[in-house]
Amino acid sequence: MPREDWPRPLLHGTPPRGFMNDPNGLVYHQGRYHFFYQHNPQAPVWGHMSWGHAVGRSLLDWEDQPVALPEQPDHMVFSGSAVVDKANAAGFGAGALVAIYTAHYRDDREAQCLAYSLDGGQQWAFYEENPVLVDPERPHVRDPQVFWYAPGNYWVMAVARADERQVAFYASDNLRRWALLSTFGPAGCWQASPHWECPALLELPVEGTDRTHWLLKVDVDRGAPMGGSGAQYFTGHFDGTHFVPDDPPETVRWAEAGPDFYAAQAFNHMPDRRCVWLGWMNNWRYANVLPTAPWRGMLTIPRELSLKETSGRYDLVQRPCRECYEQMLPAERLPIRRPFPLPAAGLMRLRIAAGGRGAFRCHFFTGTTSGVVLGYDAEHRRLFLDRRAAGQTDFSPAFPGLFQASLPHDVPSELELEILFDRYSLEVFVPEARLVLSALVFPKPGDCAGQIIADRLLISTELYRLEA
Ligand code: FRU
Repeated sequence: MPREDWPRPLLHGTPPRGFMNDPNGLVYHQGRYHFFYQHNPQAPVWGHMSWGHAVGRSLLDWEDQPVALPEQPDHMVFSGSAVVDKANAAGFGAGALVAIYTAHYRDDREAQCLAYSLDGGQQWAFYEENPVLVDPERPHVRDPQVFWYAPGNYWVMAVARADERQVAFYASDNLRRWALLSTFGPAGCWQASPHWECPALLELPVEGTDRTHWLLKVDVDRGAPMGGSGAQYFTGHFDGTHFVPDDPPETVRWAEAGPDFYAAQAFNHMPDRRCVWLGWMNNWRYANVLPTAPWRGMLTIPRELSLKETSGRYDLVQRPCRECYEQMLPAERLPIRRPFPLPAAGLMRLRIAAGGRGAFRCHFFTGTTSGVVLGYDAEHRRLFLDRRAAGQTDFSPAFPGLFQASLPHDVPSELELEILFDRYSLEVFVPEARLVLSALVFPKPGDCAGQIIADRLLISTELYRLEA
């Protein structure tokens, strides 16, 4: 019998009921982080798309709010972003929160629209003169990412021309009238992917310097190396008009080595200089049939972004946001070989000798016959995550899997793995190897042991439990 009472994760955003996909409108405003998201409030499958809403005093609080932008009679409310209009450029009111989203009309056409809130995100009004941006030649243009481009004194929008597999850039000084700046693509992964979605153009710090460099992430709905949907990125320079990539057009780079990362977007108007993004921890191959109830779909942990430059090549580095550690109890050492009880959520930090000989395995969510294995094979310098025997896997043939990533050659001899675990997920960060591997897992009730089996490679272990 299907269980109807799946407790929600402790550190990850989920809808109270119904379906969730992309994060939307991530923005910091008056001391609070707003998390909006693609939401079907009526059923735990995709449909009736609306913007669900949660707020937090920190990046890891999640306080459910009423639906912010409900489905409209003539359109669904698809993905988009939110900005704070401090100078009242749009004329809705000084300090208005303005959402720029894609209307998906009943006849399948799409256009960009505005909605605004004058009370800090509680009540919303749709702009009377919507849509504000229509492309008469292209029915499927969606997922506007809007941010303030200070050097030019205007707003920039990056939006996906989904069928063309291009990103178009527009500028506006009032959020209502948009002028085309340039386009990018097709490039990278496009032939294997019918659609590009959810672009994000981000200016990121270059590690160890006081410089910045640009990254353009754009998702593919099919054709990612782990199967199904995924996030590719390009690094380059944005001069206010054009995005000029560093690499030749056929170069393909992926933000993740795991199967479950999509539709990421970064917070607008962060109170500090960090660039923090989070994604939908899911894959369109099985998103509609995950076993949880009465809610379905969850977000990743917020991640701090930077670029690491090695001989002219820039790699994306993601780290769990530092607030993760602030939520945890002081570190404990872990036993080796002997099973130990795994808390419902926490962070494990392991130091390994990446260049040594041997292997290590770390088992999570283990029961008598099930478990997830995260391992490192030193001979092949490969990190792997095996969820083939992880509790429930039979809801989709695309779900069980073994995911692997090779370490780049220029990593230090000692590496740190930060493994964030929560109900139904593992996120493995290896910042020095520019690797992240995120995967959903659905342990059976009672599958709650951990065990580390290591042969020489392990230097130290730390477990941080989530504060009760
Ligand atoms: C990506 C996506 C977006 C669209 C939204 C609809 O997951 O397909 O392109 O705006 O989901 O829910």
